[in-house]
Amino acid sequence: MERSETQSGGADQMRTTEEIIGRADVNDLEAILSFIGHQEESGHHNVADQCEAEFTWDYEKGRLAKLDRLYEKAKTAQWNGQTDLPWETQVDQEAVVMANFATHPDQMGWTDAMLEGTSLEKWSDKEWLRFGVESQNWTLSQFMHGEQGALLCTAKIVETVPWIDAKYYAATQVVDEARHVEVFSRYLDEKLSGHYPLNGHLGLLLDDIIADSRWDMTYLGMQIMVEGLALAAFGFMHQLTQEPLLKQLLRYVMADEARHVAFGVLSLQELYSELSEPELRERQEFAFEAAVRMRDRLRSQEVWDRMEVPWNDVVTLMGRQDPNQDDFQIMLFSRIVPNLRKLGLLDAADGWLRQRFTEMGVIAFEHLSDSTEDEDAFADGSPVTRQVA
Ligand SMILES: [Fe+2]
Ligand SMILES: [Fe+2]
Repeated sequence: MERSETQSGGADQMRTTEEIIGRADVNDLEAILSFIGHQEESGHHNVADQCEAEFTWDYEKGRLAKLDRLYEKAKTAQWNGQTDLPWETQVDQEAVVMANFATHPDQMGWTDAMLEGTSLEKWSDKEWLRFGVESQNWTLSQFMHGEQGALLCTAKIVETVPWIDAKYYAATQVVDEARHVEVFSRYLDEKLSGHYPLNGHLGLLLDDIIADSRWDMTYLGMQIMVEGLALAAFGFMHQLTQEPLLKQLLRYVMADEARHVAFGVLSLQELYSELSEPELRERQEFAFEAAVRMRDRLRSQEVWDRMEVPWNDVVTLMGRQDPNQDDFQIMLFSRIVPNLRKLGLLDAADGWLRQRFTEMGVIAFEHLSDSTEDEDAFADGSPVTRQVA
């Protein structure tokens, strides 16, 4: 793979934490909690994507054999969000939330000691139920908005990536992402009880990914970081829920996402082996920013806001929940860390990113298998694939 000119330059200055994420203390709770996502009144959000579209005159299909194989697989693994899912399923959202509470009582992660002295201490079952319902509406809304982010990013990759095999594959991902937005949106409209705007921190990250002019940053931000985390989060929800429509929907989406993450690793692998240390450090900083934003978004700021929980209580509660000790939050990085290792980003620049991930408590995942080894994961969940096999 040849390096594009857009990869070089501008990497000679290392930035401070404040310059990377906008605050000096990674764990500054008030800063994390006070940033709440709101939808623009216009109903639209615009970001200058600053990209240069690139034609290639090298049309030789299969020059990048692994990407070509992935493209061929993607064509046969398509499914139809309208006809391949059991939309006739009746969903009683409150019953689903109560069943989740019952099978995973620790799911909310709140012990009596954590609630002490806050208004949540006096919450009845009714309020906890509402909290569960709002949390589900919020989670699925974030999935939907994240999928739209993936749709826009992948369309950008079609334009900017220099290789024909990657343009072909990315075009299939555009269709996949459109379908994902479609099914999450329909599920929210027909089966749940409300929408939420895009979380503020996730919004900052999506804006930064789209605004970066370098095509490899789109991949790193979206395919490696956002989709890596999404795949783990979908897997967790797939395991948790007994609601058959959502379970099947997630299964199909995960089969697509496994290819998407593999696409990211396969595309960046060789390129990153040729970058200089300062260039790699810039990628490390971007991966770190993404990791922090995705962790910050898990505080579900918009739910507390809508539930009108007093600000002091939110700060107290969140102060008692340490993301470095939270198994669920740590598990979400299980796909990301081995992939960054495969790309050489953990240990470049004197192990700068390894150090950051050690501080975040997620480094232990580095030796799990990376996503090039499981691009076919969950593929038996697709009806089309089953018929072909
Ligand atoms: Fe997706
Ligand atoms: Fe995806």
